Amino acid sequence: MSLQEETAAARVLAERARYVARGVSTPRLVVARAFGARIEDVDGRSFIDFAGGIGCQNLGHGNPAAVAAIHEQVDLYLHQCFMVGTYEPYIEVCRLLAELSPCGKGEQRSLLLNSGAEAIENAVKIARTATGRPAVITFDNGYHGRTLLTMTMTSKVVPYKKGFGPFAPEVYRAPSPYPYRGVGSDEAIHGLEEVFKTGVDPESVACVVLEPVQGEGGFIPMPADYPARLQELCRKHGILYVDDEVQSGCARTGPVWAIEHYEGVEPDLLVSGKSIGGGMPLTAVTGRAEVMDAVDPGGLGGTFGGNPVACAAAVAVLEEVSAPEFRARAAELGDRMRGRLEALAERTPQIGEVRGLGPMLGVELVTDRDSKTPAPELAKAVVDAAFERGLLLLSCGTYGNVLRTLVPLVVTDEELEQGLGILEESLADAGAGAA
Ligand SMILES: Cc1ncc(COP(=O)(O)O)c(C=O)c1O
Repeated sequence: MSLQEETAAARVLAERARYVARGVSTPRLVVARAFGARIEDVDGRSFIDFAGGIGCQNLGHGNPAAVAAIHEQVDLYLHQCFMVGTYEPYIEVCRLLAELSPCGKGEQRSLLLNSGAEAIENAVKIARTATGRPAVITFDNGYHGRTLLTMTMTSKVVPYKKGFGPFAPEVYRAPSPYPYRGVGSDEAIHGLEEVFKTGVDPESVACVVLEPVQGEGGFIPMPADYPARLQELCRKHGILYVDDEVQSGCARTGPVWAIEHYEGVEPDLLVSGKSIGGGMPLTAVTGRAEVMDAVDPGGLGGTFGGNPVACAAAVAVLEEVSAPEFRARAAELGDRMRGRLEALAERTPQIGEVRGLGPMLGVELVTDRDSKTPAPELAKAVVDAAFERGLLLLSCGTYGNVLRTLVPLVVTDEELEQGLGILEESLADAGAGAA
């Protein structure tokens, strides 16, 4: 390519390669502006966004209520540090989280933080203090972040763990349900009971940490009976149930929290993040007062956690996602997307399974349906083809072979149709289709 032909995106990416650490993976998109479910790049190309900044834009880029709240807060005050000066937006977020909490009856309290990993770390600290026990149980295909403890808890080795050991102690892994690959609720419960025999005494376990829909691990929703059965086992042994809703929460699956899809389960701690900040970094740990208040004053916190601007945005977000209309629209989108993807699966033998909850849907790609051999190269080719056609799409999965949809839930019907159409064309471009 001659110098005159060089795109603005190519110039920015060359600068990125020069100045940014190689370990942060490099997308091809260079953003100029974004609104709703669309992103425009620095060369004026428009993309339909099925990625949402990895699930952080459930309410759409530039959500008007969040942006207005951000503007208003910016003019009042910026960082204070909640441990230096109390400010009301922080309390207001905690009040809304208490109202929306799935963690049973009684007073609910929250702690606000900056990242999902930091929130998971704090949930574990709280669970350890509340129980006086050290051990943590995580699950196959689970993802919880990139800090020392959370990467230890994460089950995928490349790229999240390779070369980064030694890992944190007292983390044990159990099988989790993945019906498409032969692990149902019975097998998963049995597997956990085995861990209690061969790995760790259940009386030493502070908490289990589970995503209701495993995100990075492949968009694997827990079967209907599993969370309640897991909770029963936890209660038998005095173990706390930590519900990691960083990716599946904030209306991603329709209701505010994905765990609301499941009967008979009330987690002890809820971890939320990503979309709750409406594009600002904000995460939270929520739970019943007796659990949350196990930690003495000063034991929790951090310089930036619960930044006032992020809190102002979160208040707008939590009000919007808790409105029945928002939930109804999300459910409608989920039904429509599932219908289209299942129809596509009928014509495409490389689609092993379409699964998910509401509009949090994944498409698992395999070389063929009999062997179910994962097809990560195909997933990558589809993502690349989609980009060429103007759709931002992400893959995920322990085997890297699952396409995931994290489309902002404010997407219009036309944009959704266009995006699903591009997805179908991209599968064909990548060589998938009827044999
Ligand atoms: C389920 C889950 N937990 C925790 C995290 C970590 O969040 P963060 O990247 O904000 O640290 C993620 C991030 O994708 C996630 O999906």
